[in-house]
Amino acid sequence: MDNHAAPLAGRTVLVIGGARGLGRGIAEAAARAGAAVVVGARDADRAAQVAATLPGATSALIDIGDERSIAEAAATFDRLDHVVVTASAHHDVPVTGYQHDAVVRAFQAKVIGPMLVAKHLAPRLAPDGSILLFSGVAAWNPSPGYTVMGVTNAAVAALATHLAVELAPVRVNAISPGIVDSGTWDTLGEGAKASFFAGAAGGTLVGRVGRTDDITEAALWLLTAGYVSGETIHVEGGARHA
Ligand SMILES: NC(=O)c1ccc[n+]([C@@H]2O[C@H](COP(=O)([O-])OP(=O)(O)OC[C@H]3O[C@@H](n4cnc5c(N)ncnc54)[C@H](OP(=O)(O)O)[C@@H]3O)[C@@H](O)[C@H]2O)c1
Repeated sequence: MDNHAAPLAGRTVLVIGGARGLGRGIAEAAARAGAAVVVGARDADRAAQVAATLPGATSALIDIGDERSIAEAAATFDRLDHVVVTASAHHDVPVTGYQHDAVVRAFQAKVIGPMLVAKHLAPRLAPDGSILLFSGVAAWNPSPGYTVMGVTNAAVAALATHLAVELAPVRVNAISPGIVDSGTWDTLGEGAKASFFAGAAGGTLVGRVGRTDDITEAALWLLTAGYVSGETIHVEGGARHA
C-alpha cells in the first residue's frame, strides 16, 4: 500500500478536546490546512461555538470519560482520516493525597478514554489515517506531586506503540509537550504563572516555554508523516536533557 504522506486538504480530522488549549490550536491549524475539522468536546455548545469560527468545521459531543458518548459520536462518521485526543484531567498531589476517583479520572482522560476512542473510531479510519495522542514531559522528568501526571503520560507513550502495532496500517503516534503556554496555566494567576514559566524555561535547553504553534506544527506534521508510527515525539525544548 502507498503510505506516503497525504496532505490534509479534504481530509476529516476529529479533535477531541478541540474547544480549548492545544486541541483548539490543532483544530484551527488543520482547518487552515484545508481539513474538514470536527471539534469534539464534552460541552456541546462550546464545541459548536468553536466550530462556527472555522471554515467547513462541524462539532461533536464527546466526553472521553463516557464510552456511550464516544460510541454515539463514532456512529455519525462514515469515514474519518485522523483523530487527535488532547483530553487530560489533572490530579497533581503528593502520594499521601491521592483521591481514588481523581486518579481514575486522570487515567480515563489520558489512557482509558483514548483506548475506547480507538475501539469505536479505528474501524472508521482510512487505512492511511492516524490517531494522535498527547503524552507529556512529566513522564520523563519525575517530580514530587506529579506522579499521576507522569504515570498517565508514560502510559500514553506505551499506548501509542501498542495501538500502532494492532491497528496497522493506521498510524498511531503521540506528542509529548514540555510546558506550553496553551492557556491551561492561566488558572495559576499572572504572578504564579510567570514564576512557574521562568522555572520551566530554565529547565529547557532553549531557554523558553513552548508556544501553542510549537505543538500545532508538530501535530500537523505527524498527521501527514506517512512513514512514522508508534512513536512519541518530544516537543519540549530539550527539557529531558537539561
Ligand atoms: N500545556 C502544557 O504545558 C502541557 C504539558 C505537557 C502535556 N500537555 C498535554 O497536552 C494536552 C493538551 O494540553 P492543554 O494545555 O491544551 O490542556 P488543557 O488546557 O488541560 O486542555 C485539555 C483538553 O481536554 C479536554 N477534556 C478534559 N476532560 C475531557 C473529557 N472528559 N472529555 C473530553 N474532553 C476533555 C478539555 O476540554 P474542557 O474545556 O471540556 O475541559 C480541554 O479541551 C493534554 O493532554 C496535556 O496533558 C500539556
